[in-house]
Formats: sequence, C-alpha cells, structure tokens
Amino acid sequence: MNTAQAGIFALGTSSHAYLEFDVVDKNQSRNFAAAVASIREPRTTTGGVNFVIGFRPELWQEMMPENTPRGVEGFNKNIDGVEGFVMPATQHDALVWMSGSAYDMVFDMARTVIQDLTGKATLQEETTSWSYRHDRDLTGFVDGSENPTLLDAPVDALLPDGLPGAAGSVLLLQKWRHRTTEWEALPVPKQELVMGRTKAESIELEKKPEDSHVARTDQDKFGHIFRRNMPYGNVDNHGTVFVGFSAEQQRLTKMLQSMAGVLDGTRDALTRYTLPLTGAYYFVPSVESLRELR
Ligand code: HEM
Repeated sequence: MNTAQAGIFALGTSSHAYLEFDVVDKNQSRNFAAAVASIREPRTTTGGVNFVIGFRPELWQEMMPENTPRGVEGFNKNIDGVEGFVMPATQHDALVWMSGSAYDMVFDMARTVIQDLTGKATLQEETTSWSYRHDRDLTGFVDGSENPTLLDAPVDALLPDGLPGAAGSVLLLQKWRHRTTEWEALPVPKQELVMGRTKAESIELEKKPEDSHVARTDQDKFGHIFRRNMPYGNVDNHGTVFVGFSAEQQRLTKMLQSMAGVLDGTRDALTRYTLPLTGAYYFVPSVESLRELR
C-alpha cells in the first residue's frame, strides 16, 4: 500500500509559500525531479515545515509512466466562460508548497529550495499566504465548511489502491484576486446570496440561487474534493489561493467549467467579485514514487 504526502493533510498551519518552477533543460527533467524529490525538511517537531511536491502531469507521465493516473492533464488551455470571463492557464513544471507555523521557517526553507534547484529550474511564480481570522477567506466568509473530515479526506483526495498513481492526488492551484471594493459595497445579505451560505455562521441557505458559489460547485453533483484555500497578498492587492485536491481531475475541471458558465450558461456570481490570475494542475505523487526518483 502506498503512502500519501503528509503535507496534504497537515491542517492548522498559518504560513505558506507556493513555489512554481519550470525546468531549464527539458532533456534533464529527471535530474530536476530527483533534486526536487531530495529536498529535506527540518525534522524538529515544532520548527518543522510541511512539504507538498507536485509535477506537471505530462512531465510526471514522461518520468514514471507506470505510476501515472490515466487521462490527467496540465492546465494547458484557458477556460473561456460566458460574458467574456476567462480562467487563464499558467501551467508550470513543478510545485513545491511549504507550510509551517511561522513565516520565518517557511522563508528560510523556500530560499534553500530555490538554491538547491539553481541551474536545474527557474522560479516562475512565488505566492505566500497566511491565515485570516482563524478560518475565513478575505471575503470574510468561513472557507472549508463543506470539507471532508480527516478520516474521509483521503478517500476524496487520493487515487485508490490498485490504480496507477495510487495514494497520489490531482491538485488544482489557482490564484484569485479579490475585487474588495466592489465586494464590500454589497450588503451582507447580498454577499450571502453570492456565496450561498450565511456570513457569520456559514450555514447553507435553504434557497440558494442557481448562480451562488456553492450551487456552482455542488459536491453532490460534481464529486467531493479536499480544499486547503488560503488568503494571499498585501493590503492593496490580495485574494485567495485556491488549493484543491481530488482523486479525479474531472471533479475539479467540471467545477471550473460550471463556475465559468461553460456547462449551462450560468456563471458563478463570485466570479463577478474575484478574478483568476493563474491556473495549474499538478500531480502530487505518493512518497514511494518520490523516493524512486531520488
Ligand atoms: C476566489 C476564489 C474562491 C473563494 C473565495 C471561495 C470560497 C468559498 C466559500 C466561502 C465556500 C463556502 C464554505 C465552504 O464549504 O467552504 C466555498 C465552497 C466551495 N468551493 Fe469555493 N471558493 C473559491 C474558488 C473555488 C474554486 C475555484 C473551486 C473549484 C474548483 C471551489 C470549490 C468549492 C467547493 C467544492 C465548495 C463546497 C460546495 C458544496 O457545498 O458542496 N471554490 N468556497
């Protein structure tokens, strides 16, 4: 039986960094992957940093065809929604996501990772994120209410035993800038209609509009996923890093299409107040597969 990367489920950390890299020489991908897989975390209990390492699905397929889930693809094309709404494709070759209890440790580790990969890969996108009012995103709503418990999360997030890529996960990483002025101009009852839940208590509305965010991403319809969203940015320019893990890529793809209005012409009301800036899929392999790369 394979083992999932523990960082996927390491909840409660308040400081994060997401480093997205491109390989310098495509013929040296395996060397690059070996270097990524050899990254060593600090091993102390309280000073530790969690890692999640993911690869562009096509790159992983090239290196480990027998451990690649079927049909998983990078975010290679923009999603063109209704009314000119676009979710941009900004795929990179690899992701190293670090999380810890304080930013100094994450910062030092991130610098070490970048140094270790010098000459093999270039850093293309760096995002840092931090928790806001315990479990809220920067809309002020609780984010993660409908997440599975840690007992159920592995079922939703990981490829099951017996399939290629077992204990791996498909990760969607997307940075969304918030239109805070427009959002805050909406009275709270209107914000609640956009989200489909109440703001203070995060209770699902009995009658939620068709275009509400939770109706557009209804897990009873699209399948269950495990989200680790976090706020990012500064006072002037900020938003949400969407971090979603799924055993099947299709669940995430369908949710994005539904939000963009591709499936039935109805666009997610939340996309009128938030703007996707990036979008990439990474395959997050099991620890056994990562060890094979070293
Ligand atoms: C600006 C970006 C986003 C923000 C601020 C945001 C925020 C939220 C909030 C506040 C909720 C309600 C509470 C909860 O259950 O967590 C929610 C639900 C949810 N969101 Fe998002 N979200 C964003 C983007 C996305 C994207 C891109 C996806 C999918 C690819 C997604 C998938 C979901 C799912 C599956 C649920 C639960 C739906 C259900 O009730 O079954 N979200 N989100």
